[in-house]
Parts: sequence; C-alpha cells; structure tokens
Amino acid sequence: MNKFEVAKDGVDPNLVPRRVLHTGAKMPAIGLGTFGSDRFSGEDIAEAVKGAISVGYRHIDCASIYGNENLIGQSFKEVMQGGIKRQELWITSKLWNDMHGEGDVLISCKKSLEDLQLDYLDLYLVHWPFPNYHPPGCDVTSRSPNAKPYIHENYMKTWRQMEKLVEMGLAKHIGTSNMTIPKLKLLLRDANIKPACNEMEQHPHFQQPELFRFCMENEIQPIGFCPIGSPTRPDRDKTDSDTVDIEDPVVVKIAKRLNVHPAVICVKWAVQRGQIPIPFSIYRNEYLSNLKSTVQDPLTDEEMEAIAGIDRNCRLIKGQVFLWKQNQTWEDLWDINGQITPP
Ligand SMILES: NC(=O)c1ccc[n+]([C@@H]2O[C@H](COP(=O)([O-])OP(=O)(O)OC[C@H]3O[C@@H](n4cnc5c(N)ncnc54)[C@H](OP(=O)(O)O)[C@@H]3O)[C@@H](O)[C@H]2O)c1
Repeated sequence: MNKFEVAKDGVDPNLVPRRVLHTGAKMPAIGLGTFGSDRFSGEDIAEAVKGAISVGYRHIDCASIYGNENLIGQSFKEVMQGGIKRQELWITSKLWNDMHGEGDVLISCKKSLEDLQLDYLDLYLVHWPFPNYHPPGCDVTSRSPNAKPYIHENYMKTWRQMEKLVEMGLAKHIGTSNMTIPKLKLLLRDANIKPACNEMEQHPHFQQPELFRFCMENEIQPIGFCPIGSPTRPDRDKTDSDTVDIEDPVVVKIAKRLNVHPAVICVKWAVQRGQIPIPFSIYRNEYLSNLKSTVQDPLTDEEMEAIAGIDRNCRLIKGQVFLWKQNQTWEDLWDINGQITPP
C-alpha cells in the first residue's frame, strides 16, 4: 500500500459543497462508493479510498455486504495517522438483510465499527427493507426459500434497534435505503428518530422525481447510488431494456462542451440537483474528475432542464432476489401504484 499524503493536485475539501441535514449536521455533497462488485479486490478498493481522501473526498459509502470494510478500516487508520481528523470524515455503513432480527443490529453495527476501526459512524443505513438472505454475487433468478415481504411491524422492530445506536453514540445518524414513498410514510409516522437520509438509485435515466421530491419535502436527504448508471455492472444485473446514461446524446453533448467524460456530467447533474451522488471508481483520474466536477464549470439552467427531460424510468438495480412469492415481477418490490404490495 502507498503511504497516505494529501495530494497537491487535489480539491480543497472546504470548497466541496455540503448538504445540511435536519439535525443541522453538514454532509459532503459527494461520496466515494465502495462496492467493487466482481471486478475489483478489497485491496484495490481500500487503496482507492486512501487515494480519494488524499485528493479531497471526505465522504465514503461503505457496507458490510461489500466484504471489504476490514481493508477500508486499515485505510482510515493510515489516513488519520497521516493527519486527517475523524470529524473531518463522513463515513456511512449499512445493515445487511440477514441482520434485521432482535439483537442483530447492534452486533452488526459493532462489527462494522471494528472492521472500519472507528468509534462511531456518521450514518448507518438499513440497506434494504426486506429481511432476506441471499449469497453475494448470486444470479437474479435465485430465490431464498425464506424470503419475506415488507412487514412494517417487523421493520419498526429493526428501526427501534437503529434508534438505540444513536442513543448509544455508535451512529450519529440513521437512515434508509431502497425505500418507497408508502414505506417511508409509515416510518415517518412511527419513528422516534426520523431517517436523516434515504439512499436510492438515481441517475439521468432514472431520476425518481416523486420519491426525490418526497424526501426533500420531508427533510430526508437523498443519496443517489449508481449515479453514472453503473455502466460496468455485472452482466447478471443487466436486462435488454436497460439504457446507458453515458451514451445519451444530451449528456454526451454537454460533456463535449466541458471537455470531460460523460460520467462526470452525471455526477455534476446529481450534485446540482441536490442528491448526494456516490460514484465508484478505483482509478485516480476518474475519482478526481468526479470530485472536481463539484467545484467547477456548473451546468447551465438549460442543461439542467435538458437532463431533466431524458429520464427513462430505467431502474437498473431491480432487486429480483428479494421477491418472496412465485409469479411476481420485480415491480412488486417498488410499490409502483402507491400502495405497499400485500404479502
Ligand atoms: N444502497 C444500495 O442498495 C446500493 C446499490 C448499488 C450501489 N450502491 C453504492 O453506490 C456506489 C456506486 O454505484 P455503482 O458502482 O454501481 O455505479 P456508478 O458509480 O454509477 O458507476 C461506476 C462505474 O462508472 C465508471 N466511472 C466512474 N467515474 C468515471 C469517470 N469519471 N469517467 C469514466 N468512467 C467513470 C467506472 O467504470 P470503470 O471501473 O470501468 O472505469 C465505475 O466502475 C456503489 O459503489 C455503492 O457504494 C448502493
């Protein structure tokens, strides 16, 4: 591993925009994703985390299921030994689906803290609202025989344990991921500590305008995953109808004007719109240009409008492995008609 040093050609983290959460806390408006899928090793990703912090990232999006928190923890240790203070960093982790049961949330959070070599998380998310185990890397056709639908009463039991983490000082904020408006409405009704953030898929071809608006109106900060449309995701996660954001003529035209890769335009659009994108890359030129996009050459109002017009409602992470009954389609997971799909 390379020694940690602040890069001379990086971005001053104080210039990177920040979003104010309902608690008043300030969260960096861009983060680095750390899900390497099948393509990159944990070591590659841990090295990228260190490199990203050296060029000015202060927000890292982790999860226990990514299987690399212990290696990323080593990077955090070196970064802090290199002079970056813990309170300058925003570190998110997530509770995996097989750890929703009574007592499991604390175990899981403590394990992430131990692996990441931290005393607290800035944000801990419930990764999916479905308490279903499936093996990492499994095919989308694979189904768990114990798969369960969303049951609000059970989700609240998990949420109460999440709230406990805040009371214990192990997580400064708690939040949700892969939620829908009807599920969030119930959570807002019943939570003692409301979610600070909702992590959701968001890119130019999948803008989720209603959910985005709902989150903003309720002071739940949206965090946008797959902000570039995850162009190199595994083939098992691709379908014939999926579209490619970075090939969209509107995105390509703006990229030409600014002389950057179309990926950078997707990131820039996300930050200007108000969600917090968490683009992934292990390549220095890519993660540095993504970060630079937040501090230079803003998109014009016309360009923002043009991108608003290319939404294709193209969900990439469909979640098929969470289906709990025969003859369901993945749309059943997303409460398309505004009602939670019955068990
Ligand atoms: N909460 C959830 O359920 C959930 C679900 C999915 C993802 N996530 C989070 O979101 C993060 C991002 O999602 P993602 O990795 O699927 O997709 P993504 O960020 O949309 O796409 C990542 C890919 O885009 C390419 N890229 C990045 N920056 C680029 C640049 N400046 N120029 C050219 N190409 C660039 C890279 O391809 P190459 O590697 O080929 O260069 C990279 O692998 C994940 O790492 C994870 O932390 C969360």
